[in-house]
Amino acid sequence: MSKGPVHATGQDKKLQEQLRHSGEIPQHIAIIMDGNGRWAQKRSLPRVAGHHEGVNTVRDIVEVCGQLSVKYLTLYAFSTENWKRPKDEVSMLMRLLLKALRDERDRLHNNNVKLKSIGDISALPQDVQDELLDAMELMKHNTGLTLVLALSYSGRWDITDAVKKISYDVHHGKIKPDHINDELISQYLSTKDIPDPDLLIRTSGELRISNFLLWQLAYSEMYITDLCWPEFRRRSLYEAIASFQGRERRYGMVSEQVKSKRKDAATTYVEKFLRSVTGT
Ligand code: FPP
Repeated sequence: MSKGPVHATGQDKKLQEQLRHSGEIPQHIAIIMDGNGRWAQKRSLPRVAGHHEGVNTVRDIVEVCGQLSVKYLTLYAFSTENWKRPKDEVSMLMRLLLKALRDERDRLHNNNVKLKSIGDISALPQDVQDELLDAMELMKHNTGLTLVLALSYSGRWDITDAVKKISYDVHHGKIKPDHINDELISQYLSTKDIPDPDLLIRTSGELRISNFLLWQLAYSEMYITDLCWPEFRRRSLYEAIASFQGRERRYGMVSEQVKSKRKDAATTYVEKFLRSVTGT
C-alpha cells in the first residue's frame, strides 16, 4: 500500500506535461472496458486471467487520471446485461470486485480519490454493497479525481428510473410537466451533478455504446481502440487524450460559431482578469 499520492516520474512526467500544454485535458472521461476475455483467449488463459489483468489497468488509469487532474472518470465495470453471463463468471466478477475494493481503498483514499457508484447497487451481493458503501463513506470528503463505478448499470435503466421519479414528483405536484427540460432530466439521472463525459473510450474495437450512459454521451467525443482493456495502459490513454485535443467540438453549430464563441470566452476571461487587477 502506498503512503501518499503517487506522482509521475521521468519520461512519463514529460509526456504528461506535453499533454497539458498541447490542449485541454478532458474534465470527464468515460470508459467501456472491453476485451478482457479476448485478451485471455489470445494467450490461452482462462477468462478470469483477463479480468485480473483488467484490474491492473484500472489501477494505472485511475492513477494517471489523478495526475492529469481529470475531474471525473466513469468506468463501466458491470452492466445490467452482464447478469446474463454464466453464473460462474458473474460470481467470479463479483469476488474480483470485492477484492479490488478491499485492496485498493487505502491507495485510492491516500491519493485523494472520491469514489461514487451509479447503477442498481441493491442487485449486488450484500458483501459487495457493504464494501462499496464503506469505501464511498471513507472517501466522501476527498477533493481529487471522482471515480464513478457503473455497477449493475445501463443507460436505459438510468432513464427509466429517472422517468419514474419525475412522474412521481409530477403526480405529487412537486414539478409541473411544462418545467421538464434537459437540465431537469439530467438532475433525475444517477449522474446528477456530474458533468457529461467529454471523452468516451472503448477498448477492443467494437463500435457500440452497449447501453452505457445513453443520455449523457449526447455530445461526447468517441475514441475506439483495438487494444483489449488489459493492454490499455497510460500511454494508450495519452494517445486517446491527444486525439480528443485534435477534435473540434461543435455541439451542432458550424465551425465559425464555435471559434467566435471561444474568442468571446477568452475576451471575457481577459476582461475579468484585468478588472480584478485594476479593481474597476
Ligand atoms: C469486459 O470484458 C469487462 C467486464 C465485463 C468487466 C470489467 C471488470 C474489470 C476490469 C474488473 C473489475 C473492475 C473494477 C472497477 C475494479 P469481456 O469479458 O466482455 O471481454 P470479451 O468481450 O473479450 O469477452
